[in-house]
Amino acid sequence: MSTIESVVQETRVFPPSEETVKKATISGMAAYEALCKEAEQDYAGYWARLAREHVTWKTPFTKSLDESEAPFYKWFPDGTLNVSYNCLDRQVEAGKGDKVALIFEADDGKVTKVTYKDLLARTAKFANALRAQGIKKGDRVLIYLAMSVEGVVAMQACARIGAIHSVVFGGFSAKSLEERILDAGAVAVITADEQCRGGKNIPLKPAVDEALNLAVGHNVKTVFVVKRTGGACNMVAGRDVWYHDIVAGQSETCEPEWVDAEHPLFLLYTSGSTGKPKGVQHSSGGYLLHAILTNKWTFDLKDDDVFWCTADIGWVTGHTYITYGPLACGATEIVFESVPTYPDAGRFWKMIQDHKVSVFYTAPTAIRSLIKANEGNPATHPRNYDLKSLRILGSVGEPINPEAWMWYYNNVGGGRCPILDTFWQTETGGHMITPLPGVTPLVPGSCTLPFPGIQATIVDETGHELEWGKGGFLVVKKPWPSMIRTIWGDADRFKKSYFPADFQGKLYLAGDGAMRDAKTGYFTIMGRIDDVLNVSGHRMGTMEIESALVANPLVAEAAVVGRPDDLTGEAICAFVVLKQSRPSDEDAKKIAKELRDWVGKEIGPIAKPKDIRFGENLPKTRSGKIMRRLLRALAKGEEITQDVSTLENPHILDQLKQNA
Ligand code: PRX
Repeated sequence: MSTIESVVQETRVFPPSEETVKKATISGMAAYEALCKEAEQDYAGYWARLAREHVTWKTPFTKSLDESEAPFYKWFPDGTLNVSYNCLDRQVEAGKGDKVALIFEADDGKVTKVTYKDLLARTAKFANALRAQGIKKGDRVLIYLAMSVEGVVAMQACARIGAIHSVVFGGFSAKSLEERILDAGAVAVITADEQCRGGKNIPLKPAVDEALNLAVGHNVKTVFVVKRTGGACNMVAGRDVWYHDIVAGQSETCEPEWVDAEHPLFLLYTSGSTGKPKGVQHSSGGYLLHAILTNKWTFDLKDDDVFWCTADIGWVTGHTYITYGPLACGATEIVFESVPTYPDAGRFWKMIQDHKVSVFYTAPTAIRSLIKANEGNPATHPRNYDLKSLRILGSVGEPINPEAWMWYYNNVGGGRCPILDTFWQTETGGHMITPLPGVTPLVPGSCTLPFPGIQATIVDETGHELEWGKGGFLVVKKPWPSMIRTIWGDADRFKKSYFPADFQGKLYLAGDGAMRDAKTGYFTIMGRIDDVLNVSGHRMGTMEIESALVANPLVAEAAVVGRPDDLTGEAICAFVVLKQSRPSDEDAKKIAKELRDWVGKEIGPIAKPKDIRFGENLPKTRSGKIMRRLLRALAKGEEITQDVSTLENPHILDQLKQNA
């Protein structure tokens, strides 16, 4: 049975426990409905009330929303603030200076605790160092760092001086880095000599050097290098500086740059349906508000909680649920350098036990791989660890299949902890559709109901709302503060991608198919409706991978589709036509490996196709259009029962069934 079928047929319901309802900030369905109603009656007023209550403003705003240039919405436009001030100074000023902000656990298990006072001092020193290098408000700074205290400090320091950061996941290649450096017009890069993962030291700096060599006409003046391992590291005179040298002697205080609420806090590149990744631009005020609210309401963060989001700062989850949200709520959180299976598959459970983690947020892929590892190895099974500190569990990034949900619920949460299946996107800044722990009866595999104030619904291709029980396009009817502001340098693409004319330019199009349960109205996400794949919760554009493949001198043509995969959710399947004749057996295997490595270099290892199939041609209509629905069926291993009468070359279907 497919995930979607098993979710739609799911009948188990888990109502919140009395204890959870009692403790929760949003307590009970009536409280939830009251918030939704308030937002429906006056959405601008609703968010403005919350922005006054939860964000500290330097200059309070007088106008909540400017819609005059919709869909380029401006939230709290005449207010000024500083995001780093909201995360750090205000905790210290509230007497939390000695509270632990970050518990950093390194690959080798070494633990470093950083208090709010200390984090503020480190941020101030690095912010001063950035300023000393001439970096100022509005400049773009690219961050290519692994999970580290310095990663959080670097982002906070940029925010402090009003520089716009763009974090690039450490798994992306030099080529991907080059594209982002150029597109963002970055003036500086912050990186490390190496990163440590799973007992191995993996160089980071060489990719920056290569990217800067490739990036003709780039504006990068300074490369800041964190010494993580002390391994060999090429330093370019006049350009590269050691992080520890540059912060030494800097003052531990740094006056924040007070910026307008709409000032861009960061760009984060993500895949879309065309070849080029898009720089999603987020604001300062609106983004921060949603980061705070979702941490307080979805995760119910309280002063005594220890929060752990296992994402990487290279993804949006690491921005909202590591660098900004938990700190702006004054929480204690874990920053984890390593991988869930090192030194063994009990690492997560051991860390939850050691640090008494109470709120734990991870991805279905991690759960699925740990089920596999732990069910085969009883020694690292969660039952061997004391996980009683947990009270709330979260899931993000891809649909969670009911089987994985139940395992997570029973084995990690001990049947006590609600699982919050949070649906959202890089573009939305924070949770959009999610259960709230003290409110929502849970149904495995459903992300349930919209976050209060998010007016999500499902429409047909003309933008008309569908009745419950029917599948269609997931849209948001009203603007919300943490929404994407634009695509960096491409306002037109922003409008076309998210506010298409088919919907009169008024509805935010998420790019996912969804349906609502006919009785409860609960949402189930049915997957992307565009050419975007979700592999292990990582978003990949099929056209991006196709462009990488055809850039290889051996390749004449390529088409990429996704197919379901038990572990990674979706797997990448590439259909390739070579310039030479179709290879077979060993030859095919050799070329397939070469092409995988090529894609790894062009984009990053996460984009390597799992399946590669060679054909003399691709299935095309007589007018030359690639028939992707056939490719999807072939990738799944389905018998072709579809109409192939328009196909010009039916014999190649047999060739494309074979995996190299
Ligand atoms: O398809 C949806 C899926 O991930 C996409 C967004 O990917 P990205 O921008 O990389 O952000 C991931 C982290 C927020 C969505 O369009 N997705 C995300 N969360 C869920 C999900 N699909 C189903 N259930 C979820 N909880």
